[in-house]
Order: sequence, then structure tokens, then C-alpha cells
Amino acid sequence: MSAKWSVTFEKNSIKRNFWQRSALGTCLCLALAATANAEVTVSDFGKTADGVTVKQFTLKNAKGVIVKLISRGATLSEWHVPDKTGKVDDVVFGYDNIAGYESGTSYFGCTTGRVANRIAGAKFTLDGKEYKLAANDGPNTLHGGVKRSLDKVVWEGKPTASGNGVEFTYTSPDLEEGFPGELKIKTTYTLNDEGALRIDYEATTNKTTPVNICNHAYFNLAGAGSPTINDHEIKILADRYTPVDDVLIPTGQLAPVAGTPFDFRDFHKIGERVAQLNDKPGKGYDHNYVLNSQNGSLALAAQVREPRSGRMLSVLTTEPGIQFYGGNFLNGANGKGGKTYAHRSGFCLETQHYPNSVNTPSFPNTVLKPGETYKHTVVYQITAQ
Ligand code: BGC
Repeated sequence: MSAKWSVTFEKNSIKRNFWQRSALGTCLCLALAATANAEVTVSDFGKTADGVTVKQFTLKNAKGVIVKLISRGATLSEWHVPDKTGKVDDVVFGYDNIAGYESGTSYFGCTTGRVANRIAGAKFTLDGKEYKLAANDGPNTLHGGVKRSLDKVVWEGKPTASGNGVEFTYTSPDLEEGFPGELKIKTTYTLNDEGALRIDYEATTNKTTPVNICNHAYFNLAGAGSPTINDHEIKILADRYTPVDDVLIPTGQLAPVAGTPFDFRDFHKIGERVAQLNDKPGKGYDHNYVLNSQNGSLALAAQVREPRSGRMLSVLTTEPGIQFYGGNFLNGANGKGGKTYAHRSGFCLETQHYPNSVNTPSFPNTVLKPGETYKHTVVYQITAQ
């Protein structure tokens, strides 16, 4: 018999939970129960251009939700979930084969790092030493580098002892993509019967180094490949965001969202005000939000609902920031099952520390030292009503 957890939301509750102790207006309550019906199956997904076998792991819960993960990039590749009428759709972006992932440039579903998001000028200084990285986004480094960032390497994967998850591990050698220290990383996905997919990240290093790992899933709650996310309604629990310069590096300011198109403290359609950002840096929503919860406990960060399907995504995290990216750079690329992914047809909610933190001392710290353990949890839960 294996352990299972479940997630429920209770308004105005101050119940304590198993993972974290937090009391919120909308409170997360978790309970442990026993089950034996979770399933993980393992198959070969294909081989990389270098001939390395990529494994596929299929998770199924008691309600028929199916999640698929592949070991290249410890990637979330499929998530099949019923709508309010019971119709099942795959709601995340991905490709049918490894060649798709190898030629793609949008980071569909991957584990992103070592340092997700941007590092200004492709360099940073630690303990008086300057480290130079590859620039792959104008003058900056985006999502950990060019050839051996976490999305591009093949991780070791195995079902978890609990029977409803997969544990991926990868050891990134000293100076891989220019980052100091051998970094040992673990990414664990767990699916429960309430439709919540929990991801736990852990990392340790033998030299001081910046770490900021996240998942880069693109969602369309009407089904991946649907033409737009403009009708999706989003709420982000953040009073402030980090404004950016022309190359999407935060200015260092924490600006109020009030009175701007970035104000999602109540639900708004994504399409309602996005045109005001068309000619601004990022060409739409591509910004880090300063989450109201900053104490490292697992707290609700954002919710997105799609009116026709009735599906709702809730995102909870221990991280201080969330990058809301509205798919502004999608351009009709071909994805799974003959679907195409049009401009602004998917969104990402990337839980993380703020962009360019390693060069911005006023932002929460991203530097990991030997003897410390980096930890980050995100829960993506999809329900329908
Ligand atoms: C970034 C975008 C980028 C996308 C794909 C997001 O995390 O914020 O600017 O285009 O990833 O790389």
C-alpha cells in the first residue's frame, strides 16, 4: 500500500497542512490517505540525436487523469484532463517525438535551469570572480544556456516509492554552461486523485553558485492547440511586479500593479488589456510578479479559468515570484497530434525567483552554497465545474 495526498481549498480556513504550515484567506489543506490505485508505466519515447534513449513515464489517477513525463529535460509532455462535461483534452504543449523537442525553441513543459529566466549581460560575479555565460537572448542568458541547460539533457528517471510519481535526477558538472560547482538536482513529480500535479525541486552544490529552477509548461485550458488564451481569466496574488528594460531585464524596481494592465488581483480576461502592451518590451505579458506570500510556505499564487470547458488551474508555490508569459513569441509551430500553437495560444506560470537576481542584490537570494539545499515546490491543480 502506498501513500497518497490530496489537495482541497477551503475559504477562510486556518487548517494546517502536511507539507507546509500556512494560513491564507483561501487556505490550502492537505491530507494524507492511503491508496493502492496509482499507476506509473514506463516506456521508451525515442532516442536523442546523440543516440541516448529517452524514457516516457505515464501517471494515471483514480479519476482517469493522465500525465506523461519524458526524461529529456524532465519534461511534462502531456496532461489529459476532463472538462465540466467529462470530455478529456490534453491541455499542455509538447511534441510527438524527440526531434520536435530538439528543434523547438520554446521550452515546452521542461525543467528549466540551472538559472531559469534572464541573466543580464550573460555574466555574474561571485566571491570576486566573474563568470561568463553564453548569450542566447540578445545580450543575455535565457533559461540556463545553449547546449546543456536542464531542458536539453537526459535525466535519470524512476517511479517514486509512493507509486504515484516519478523522480528525475541529474548531476550537472562544474562549469557546465559556465556555472560554477557540480550541481546535483532532483525533480520529483507526483499526481494525486484531486487533479494536482506537485513538483518538488532539490539541489546541492560543491561550489557557491546561482540556482533558480522552474517548470515551463504552456497551458491552454480549452485544449492545447486551441486558437487563443484571450478568453482565459487569470488572477495573480501579487500587488507588485518587476518592470523591465528593453531586453526584459528587471529595472530593480518593485512597482505596484494598481492602475496598470498588470493588475490581476481580481480575475480579468488575459485578452482584456493585452493590446496596451503590444509595443512594449515582451510584446504582451512576459513579466515577473512579486507574490504577496514571501515566507517560503506553500501558498496560492495564481488561478486561471476557461469559461467554456469550466477548467480551472490553480498554482501554488513556495517561491517568491511567478513569471506570467502569455505566449507572445509563439508563431504557429507544429505540436503534438497535428496541432499548431498560434501566437498567444498558450500561457506559462513559471514559479521562480526574480529574473537576474544574481546581479540584483536587492532581490531575494538565488545563491546556493556548499552544505545548503535548494528547495522549491510548485503544485499545478486542474479542476472542472
Ligand atoms: C520568457 C519568454 C520566452 C519564453 C520562451 C519565458 O520564460 O519569459 O521571454 O520567450 O520563456 O523561451
